[in-house]
Amino acid sequence: MYFENGITIIGSGNLAWHLAYALKSASVQINTIISRSAENAKELADKFGATFSNNLEAIPADSSLLLLCVSDNAIEEIAGKIAGLKIPVAHTAGSIPILSQSIKIQNTGVLYPLLTFSKKIRLGEVSFPIFIEASDAEMHKKLEYLAHKISNQVYTIDSEQRKNLHLAGVLVNNFSNYLYTKAFDILESKKINGNILLPLIEETTVKLRNEHPKNLQTGPAKRGDLEVIRAHEKLLAGDSDFCKIYSLLSHNLMEYYKKAK
Ligand SMILES: NC(=O)c1ccc[n+]([C@@H]2O[C@H](COP(=O)([O-])OP(=O)(O)OC[C@H]3O[C@@H](n4cnc5c(N)ncnc54)[C@H](OP(=O)(O)O)[C@@H]3O)[C@@H](O)[C@H]2O)c1
Repeated sequence: MYFENGITIIGSGNLAWHLAYALKSASVQINTIISRSAENAKELADKFGATFSNNLEAIPADSSLLLLCVSDNAIEEIAGKIAGLKIPVAHTAGSIPILSQSIKIQNTGVLYPLLTFSKKIRLGEVSFPIFIEASDAEMHKKLEYLAHKISNQVYTIDSEQRKNLHLAGVLVNNFSNYLYTKAFDILESKKINGNILLPLIEETTVKLRNEHPKNLQTGPAKRGDLEVIRAHEKLLAGDSDFCKIYSLLSHNLMEYYKKAK
């Protein structure tokens, strides 16, 4: 209905790869993939019978939508270069506001999927929310239609809300994944397979389905057990920066529950 001439994707990284597959499964045509590296653009485009280029001039003039799936710091620069085209443009970043009207793109928007996407790692049966924002009512209808093609959880939020959503996503995904990495490293340095932690990790997330995380906290900091905290700090003595993070997190956590009393 809205995308008869197909969608042009700019970028060929983690998100471009997954959105392209999701759109194809929803029978939305992708006409062209454009990326900084022609080789990366070709690799993705070949999967969908799309054309490819490393040149923004190859954007089909009648494209129905330009979907920017590029690094956050490249969004403004690319938007500036395509401003003359009369094609609606949506970016996909959590932390970048909707493109300003001063950029002289008539219809702009955001289509932000809240999940972690890694190129070439196919998603399982996971359903994920998509957050949209649009410069005008027509663009909103288009993005809503598109988002519903690939998700049954579609929400409209503004740039300020999306920035906070992105921050929350960094806390629960990026930081916890880094903590998993450190925990695996610690175990593996003592010849214990890190996978032994998987039931603990899984149970921690499964319980969240029914309870607020603040009601699920356990461990030495929650109990105010300074002796155990000091013992852990000793174990981390050889990794002084991470030891500081451990101490800071433990004390912050203690304070949180003291205040909650
Ligand atoms: N990955 C996620 O889990 C996720 C989730 C939600 C939203 N997002 C958003 O999706 C966007 C892309 O993230 P990503 O994870 O897919 O990043 P990525 O894997 O690093 O891919 C970035 C892509 O941007 C292209 N690029 C970078 N600078 C460019 C420039 N100056 N001109 C043209 N192309 C340029 C790169 O091209 P080449 O490969 O050709 O060099 C690459 O294809 C970001 O805005 C991010 O916030 C990502």
